[in-house]
Amino acid sequence: MHTTVKGRSTTEDDITAEVLRRFEGTPDVRLREIVFALVRHLHGFVKDVNLTEAEWFSAIQFLTGTGQLCDDKRQEFILLSDTLGVSMVVDLMNHRKPEGATESTVFGPFHREGAREMPPGGNIAPRDDGGSPMMISGRVLDLSGRPIAGARLDVWQADSSGLYDSQYADRDELHMRGLFRTDSDGRYLVRTVRPVHYAIPNDGPVGQMLRATNRHPWRPAHVHFVVSADGFEPVTTHIFDDTDPYLESDTVFAVKDSLICHFVRHDARDDASQRLAIEPPFYTVDFDFVLKPRA
Ligand SMILES: [Fe+2]
Repeated sequence: MHTTVKGRSTTEDDITAEVLRRFEGTPDVRLREIVFALVRHLHGFVKDVNLTEAEWFSAIQFLTGTGQLCDDKRQEFILLSDTLGVSMVVDLMNHRKPEGATESTVFGPFHREGAREMPPGGNIAPRDDGGSPMMISGRVLDLSGRPIAGARLDVWQADSSGLYDSQYADRDELHMRGLFRTDSDGRYLVRTVRPVHYAIPNDGPVGQMLRATNRHPWRPAHVHFVVSADGFEPVTTHIFDDTDPYLESDTVFAVKDSLICHFVRHDARDDASQRLAIEPPFYTVDFDFVLKPRA
């Protein structure tokens, strides 16, 4: 039942209809579609759970806190999106890759602009003394398996303490980040340290949410990549360690089987490690990135 007095809305359903009516004049068709669905779902959600005023105000405080924690080094909203699984739903809908192309995963909140361009074998972890040395190598290929020369790899990861450079309050310089190019055979080589699993920042609203819902904050060990080349769709992805205990329960839902790799342990020197002056024990991992042509 609904009644209106002098044209004013009196029930919650009247309000939903009236809000939608006010948005009818939105000139951009896509914006109109999005705002209509947003209002319908948001009002529907509030009605579904019979939201109390106290709960509404808690939500306002939660979102306020999330925004207040964001600055050029901390992105609590991306973390919220990631831990609610929203980032991966968006990823999966937008990157349905053809057979053979490298799958994408979350971008995450820790990418920073300004990483240095490095030669093949460049060390992105020069100040990480605690980590086990690791070499990541492979090729960037097209869907037919032809090498892509001059492809760009933007690489970043947490250090062997499980922290990104931006999480150290007393440091401003970039660390554990680098830009690499493939050679004429499509090959790349990155020197780093073996990644470790880490807890996402949990001293803010996202951490509060995880604790209140009995969820853990851990992400399995991984290295981030954005791989791009002229004429191809860039891919934002990770490689994961196949021995990690959190592969099945990544707190941001980002693991895909095709991105799980085996990090091989070496206890003796070989040519490559000798050339890069890497002392055993060290690890190697080989991973080929396959790009699909730009639509
Ligand atoms: Fe990460």
